[in-house]
Amino acid sequence: MRPSLVGVGVGPGDPGLLTLRALSVLRQADHVLAPVMAPDAVGRAEAVVRQAAPEVAVERLPFAILGDEAARAGAHEAAARRIVELLDGGARVAFVTLGDPNVYSTFHHLARSVRQLRPDAVVTSIPGIMAFQELAAASGTMVLDSGERLYLVSAVDGAEALVHALGDPEAAVVVYKGGRHLPELAARLEDAGRLEGAVFGELLGMPGERVVPLEQVRAQPGAYLASILVPPRRSPADRP
Ligand SMILES: C[S@@+](CC[C@H](N)C(=O)[O-])C[C@H]1O[C@@H](n2cnc3c(N)ncnc32)[C@H](O)[C@@H]1O
Repeated sequence: MRPSLVGVGVGPGDPGLLTLRALSVLRQADHVLAPVMAPDAVGRAEAVVRQAAPEVAVERLPFAILGDEAARAGAHEAAARRIVELLDGGARVAFVTLGDPNVYSTFHHLARSVRQLRPDAVVTSIPGIMAFQELAAASGTMVLDSGERLYLVSAVDGAEALVHALGDPEAAVVVYKGGRHLPELAARLEDAGRLEGAVFGELLGMPGERVVPLEQVRAQPGAYLASILVPPRRSPADRP
């Protein structure tokens, strides 16, 4: 087997949502790496692996997610160098990430840095169930039907991220990374007549999970691990 780097999606948090393919890859890997905030902190993705496959050893890669730009770049570079070191030693390396590795994930950036250092590196990924899918299931929300469309937006910088998506009333809108802007996001949805049916999922699959109508929690900011799902506007006859 050639040395390789594989990004493994572990789902939103519940170990029951780790796929069989992901589990098999984690068990066969020579090294399983997980992003963490600090070397002595168990990361979210690591916690999923621990519950689903306690026999798999996880090595932590500290990412200075809350640090300044220079700290983040330094941590990122150190992580890429560690992966290159393992690849040069002939290892199959798995990097775990919440949800899916190809959607808003550190994996994509890390893989690019690894390829810059080793252009011939073999890089693949294993899909993971995403938080919004778990939120749809937990809240009983039908996301899309017939010709409806889907927007997935990052609201890390605030409610402006909604403008384009709300221009299409027949589109479902999923909002990621908007926890701290929750009141502003809810107000924007209300103005667009889209608050009804919108659901909020926080810490899905983790201790402290909340799945509630957005209306109920709109007054205060939510956690970073919070998602909003807004169904398309539907006539009463088309509602599930
Ligand atoms: C960096 S993105 C990671 C997305 C992930 N790769 C995916 O496919 O779902 C982080 C955002 O994903 C959403 N998210 C991920 N896991 C979540 C969870 N367990 N509960 C609620 N939202 C979650 C939140 O909106 C969070 O701000």
